[in-house]
Amino acid sequence: MVGFSDSVEQISISGIREVFEAAGADAINLGLGQPDFPTPEHARQAAVDAIESGEADGYTSNKGTAALREAIAHKHERDEGLSVDPEHVIATAGGSEALHLALEAHVDHGQEVLIPDPGFVSYDALTKLAGGEPVPVPLREDLTLDPAAVEERLTDDTAAFVVNSPANPTGTVASESDVRAFARIADEHDVLCLSDEVYERIVFDVEHYSPLAYADSDNVVVVNACSKSYSMTGWRLGWVTASEERIERMLRVHQYVQACASAPAQYAAEAALTGPQEPVAEMCAAFERRRDLVVDGLEDAGLDCPTPAGAFYAMPAVPEGFVDEVIDRGVIVVPGEAFGDNGAGHARISYATNESDLREALDIVADAAAAVR
Ligand SMILES: Cc1ncc(COP(=O)(O)O)c(C=O)c1O
Repeated sequence: MVGFSDSVEQISISGIREVFEAAGADAINLGLGQPDFPTPEHARQAAVDAIESGEADGYTSNKGTAALREAIAHKHERDEGLSVDPEHVIATAGGSEALHLALEAHVDHGQEVLIPDPGFVSYDALTKLAGGEPVPVPLREDLTLDPAAVEERLTDDTAAFVVNSPANPTGTVASESDVRAFARIADEHDVLCLSDEVYERIVFDVEHYSPLAYADSDNVVVVNACSKSYSMTGWRLGWVTASEERIERMLRVHQYVQACASAPAQYAAEAALTGPQEPVAEMCAAFERRRDLVVDGLEDAGLDCPTPAGAFYAMPAVPEGFVDEVIDRGVIVVPGEAFGDNGAGHARISYATNESDLREALDIVADAAAAVR
């Protein structure tokens, strides 16, 4: 039989899926990585209009429509005070393709990519697909990424380091001083900082900072998407923002793997970014209320958890056997080791679910924790 590539043999289907398959049909799912809100009406309507008028029938420019890229540039100005040339943006099939482009364009065979551990599952897999070697960076006790831990792992073979704030699976948000330090590391060590900002808009009481705002060199590539901020995971629309040269290299990859992002999704994303932003604020307020519920529930259950400041995840330390026990009792959570070896002893709880299910699930979490203690 014809075999498979070494790189594909190094990766496997995400452990998260296995957890979903193990759970009963009526389980409360605290494992999901997508907001449980509708896509804003004006975004849906823009896609409908583009489809009905025939505007979305053909390829767009490889980089995406000029209007969408202007909307993304405007977003950088509005949210970070950054002046970005719309030519320095590529619209992609979600944040996932954006990560793929960035790694393919910057990582040589055998080069190292420093990734947060625990961290989003794609960093490890996409690094391996690009022929690189992921180097896990353990997090601080409070589950934030320490710039010093990144800096001490840099070698001559390091191509890039990944920063993800707000973070999946921890819900933590990097401080301004840490973000400044990430930018400094990218500048001083001439290494790429790949900044995954897909949860950028979902922050509570704190601000989101981007290394793009602080770096003097062009060594920062930003990955973002409409997926989480606008509850548009199904639309598959993200982007990369970077310097002209980096964009040109990533476009080489994008042109051949994707040609262009889905045209209807581009129209929807443009409307989401330029239209009323109230739906984002409402979603964020709901997530903040649920965050408070979860933090209280975990405390009552005697589980230690750094207070999440963004995204919609909490990552408590849990006793041995907890994850199986809670799944047996009908609540799905994801074992921390699905996000890297240093995730062991933790579980990821997503609160992208309604408050009444969340309350019921938290009672079950408390019972499960007591049962395995
Ligand atoms: C940290 C992080 N980055 C990127 C992505 C990919 O997002 P998208 O659905 O836009 O491909 C996800 C999705 O869960 C994520 O959690």
